Amino acid sequence: MSSSRTQIVVGLDIGATKICAITGEVSADGMLTILGSGLAPSAGIRRGVVADIDATAVSIREAVRQAEENSGVDIESVTVGVTGEHIASLNSHGVVSVNHPHLEITQEAVDRVLDNARMIVIPPDREILHTIPRWFIVDGLDGIQHPEGMSASRLEVDAHIVTGTRTYIDNVLKSIHRAGLGIDAGGVVLQPLATADAVLLPAERDLGCVLVDIGGSATDVAVFTNGAICHTGVVPIAGEHVTRDIAVGIRVDMEEAERLKTDWGTALTDLLDRDELIDVQLLGEHNATPIPRSILAEIIEARMIELFEKVRDQMRRAGVEDHLSAGVVVTGGGSRLHGTDQVAAEVLDLTARLASPVQETGMSEALNHPRYATAVGLTRIAAANLDVFDLSGSPSQGGGRKKNGIFRRIKRAFGKR
Ligand SMILES: Nc1ncnc2c1ncn2[C@@H]1O[C@H](COP(=O)(O)OP(=O)(O)OP(=O)(O)O)[C@@H](O)[C@H]1O
Ligand SMILES: [Mg+2]
Repeated sequence: MSSSRTQIVVGLDIGATKICAITGEVSADGMLTILGSGLAPSAGIRRGVVADIDATAVSIREAVRQAEENSGVDIESVTVGVTGEHIASLNSHGVVSVNHPHLEITQEAVDRVLDNARMIVIPPDREILHTIPRWFIVDGLDGIQHPEGMSASRLEVDAHIVTGTRTYIDNVLKSIHRAGLGIDAGGVVLQPLATADAVLLPAERDLGCVLVDIGGSATDVAVFTNGAICHTGVVPIAGEHVTRDIAVGIRVDMEEAERLKTDWGTALTDLLDRDELIDVQLLGEHNATPIPRSILAEIIEARMIELFEKVRDQMRRAGVEDHLSAGVVVTGGGSRLHGTDQVAAEVLDLTARLASPVQETGMSEALNHPRYATAVGLTRIAAANLDVFDLSGSPSQGGGRKKNGIFRRIKRAFGKR
């Protein structure tokens, strides 16, 4: 249970297949201990966006109720992830002169240069979700991570700006409010940023890597170079597409297709013995029918290759292909499909690693699975943002979407661990 010296944080991952809430307790010195979690099948989500507010709210409430029950805390607010094809990102440059009497860079100058980087023209239906400083340039000296306190007359920033469609983001917030909850310290976070926080090693960010989170309905992509994020995107193919292909290709229902995929599926046809047979429950048949396992693998392999080709196209368009020395890191429930890392390595021509979320204190074995990477990351980001709160009591700013916590959040979340 929490005392006055600790605070409760909650990460809420609204996925296409499941909604997961993770509770944590943060001590006065900032240490996070995971208390518990709740999981509910998701309803009302289509391709990363809310298509039915009421159905989504019911699922959120169920996940939160479970998390409350097994962690013994009351949940009032959450840090939530958003994603979807509506998300776009771009790199922007900001520049200001330092007008401090002793030419010292203050937090005010840092805020101003980020505001300047945000001065981009975006369509009226979109809003800026994150402005993430990649590095600062102080009187021409680049690669500076913490310019506060330095002396200079000119401050510049290279920032990564993430935008999303206002109504889609509002519908996520409405579902949360409908479930009787508010938004807490971490605010609204782009899902791949949370996932990256939970799975990437500092060295991978430094050397350059692409993070691929294969979910149910979409695959989130985030690229890091020189320790900083430089590209975020979404590929509209993921685990459920594979399941549907199996259902159509073999003529089975979705449940049987999911079973075949998880029990017998592989993305590598080469490895299979051509004579191996598996029993399947064909649509409308009473008895199981044996089919070659290689047929299942061919269906899966084709879709997984297509998925990683689309990731590769994004890398090419973003111009980052040659800067990924640490390779590709695959996570998300869909990455559990056998052979995913090998397909990733082959198509992208990079070394590949399958990743689960970092082990936080108190975290149960059950959460040590790629499908919980986003939820764990959201909880970590919520914890890292508590310094915008007054530790002795209530939030310094109540509810709503925080804009001014973002810089601190990203600095903490993406700084070296
Ligand atoms: N062992 C496994 N083998 C193959 N696929 C698996 C396995 N376990 C989970 N999956 C797949 O993972 C997918 C769900 O992943 P995840 O829980 O990360 O998605 P989500 O977060 O709900 O969705 P999204 O991120 O698209 O909103 C499903 O398509 C499921 O079939
Ligand atoms: Mg997900």
